[in-house]
Amino acid sequence: MAIIELPGLSEIQQQICSDLSAGLAEQIARQGPMSFAEYMHRCLYEPGLGYYVNGLSKIGPSGDFITAPELSSDLAACVAAQTAEVLSLIGHGDVLEFGGGSGRLAVDVLRALDERQCLPHRYLLLDVSADLKQLQKELVNTELPPELASRVEWVDNFVDDFHGVAIANELFDAFPVERFSVNHGDVQQICVDYDERGFRLSEVENREITAHVQRLLAASKSDLPPDYHSEFCPVMAPWWASLSESFNTGLLIALDYGCERSRYYSPLRSSGSTRCFFQHTQHSDPLIYQGVQDITADVDFTAVAEAAVASQFALEGYTSMTQFMLSLGVIDHHKVQTDGMAEKERIAATGRLKQVLMPEEMGERFMVAGFSRNIDPVLRGFSAGDQSRLL
Ligand SMILES: C[S@@+](CC[C@H](N)C(=O)[O-])C[C@H]1O[C@@H](n2cnc3c(N)ncnc32)[C@H](O)[C@@H]1O
Repeated sequence: MAIIELPGLSEIQQQICSDLSAGLAEQIARQGPMSFAEYMHRCLYEPGLGYYVNGLSKIGPSGDFITAPELSSDLAACVAAQTAEVLSLIGHGDVLEFGGGSGRLAVDVLRALDERQCLPHRYLLLDVSADLKQLQKELVNTELPPELASRVEWVDNFVDDFHGVAIANELFDAFPVERFSVNHGDVQQICVDYDERGFRLSEVENREITAHVQRLLAASKSDLPPDYHSEFCPVMAPWWASLSESFNTGLLIALDYGCERSRYYSPLRSSGSTRCFFQHTQHSDPLIYQGVQDITADVDFTAVAEAAVASQFALEGYTSMTQFMLSLGVIDHHKVQTDGMAEKERIAATGRLKQVLMPEEMGERFMVAGFSRNIDPVLRGFSAGDQSRLL
C-alpha cells in the first residue's frame, strides 16, 4: 500500500487534535471499544473541537476540499431552475438549504432565482457550523444587493410548517457511518479501540448490526470477497423522520457522491468508501488528526429513498449530476454566462464546468434525488435518464 505523506499540523490543529483524542481515549478506557459512528460523530461534531464546529478553515484552497458550487455557478443555475419550477407550482414558499458551506450556493441560487423573477419569500440556511454561518453571512452581505440579502435568514432547526424547496448539497456525506466487515457471511461491527500504542480498529460481534447488514447485503447480486468492508448510515432514517414533522409542502433536492445500494455493496467496492481529507490530500486513516481532518463516506441513495418514503415523502427522480444539469439547460446557461467574457476567463470557466459536469469527474460520481411532499410535480431535472428504478 502506498504511504501518503500528510502535511503536518499547526499549533492550533495540534491542540484540537490532542484535546479531542484525549477525550475519546478516556471514554474508550472507561467503556470499551466505541462504535465507529460515535467516533466519527465526535470527530466531526464534538462541541468546540469537532471538524465542523472548531472554527478552522474547511472549504476552498485554504481548507481541505472543494465542492461543486465552489467550482461553477452553473450548478446553482440548474438548482435554481428546478427550484423555480416547484415554487411556481405551489405559488409561494421558502428555500431551505442544509449545510450551506461558504454560502456560495445560496448566493448564486438567489441571484439566478431573481433573474427568473421567482424569488422565494425567505432563503433559510441551516448549518451546524458557527464559523461557516459567519462566512455565509459575509458572502451574502458582500455579494448580494440588500433586496436579496434581506431574504436570507439563519435557522438552528427544521422550520415549522415548511412550504417550498429544500436543498442538501453534500450534507448526507457528512453524516456518521457505522462500519462493518464480512468474511464468508460472518458480519462484524468495526469499532474504535485504544491502548498504549494508540487508536486502532477492532471487530466486535453485534447482533443488531449483523441483522441490519444482512438486510442491506441482500441487494448485492454476487458473493462478496473475504475481508469485505463497508458502511451504512444509522442516522439517515431518524433525520428524515424528524424533517417529516415540519415539512408541509414542496420538494427536497439532495445532491451527493454515492450510488444505489446494489452498486454500493458490490464485490468490487471491497474496502468501503470511508475516507479522509486533509489539506486536499485524500487518505484512508480516520484514526489520526481527530477534529482537524474531514471524515466522509459515499451515500447509499437507496437508504436515502427508503428513509424519505418511510417518512411520507415521494421519490420524484434519481439521476446523475451530469444528466440533472443537462436536463435543466446547463449548456445554454453556460453559453449566455460566458458570452461576453475575455477568452482566458471563458476557458477557465468552461474548465471548471467540465470538472462538475464530465462523467469521469464529478458528473457521474454525484447523484441527484428529488423527494416531494403534498405536491405532484413534473420535474425537468429528472425528465431524462431517471434511474429511480435502481433504488
Ligand atoms: C461537505 S460540506 C458541503 C457544503 C456546501 N453544501 C457545499 O456544497 O459547498 C457539509 C456542510 O454541511 C454542514 N453540516 C454538517 N453536518 C450537518 C448537519 N447534521 N446539519 C446541518 N448541516 C450540517 C457543514 O457545516 C457544511 O456546511
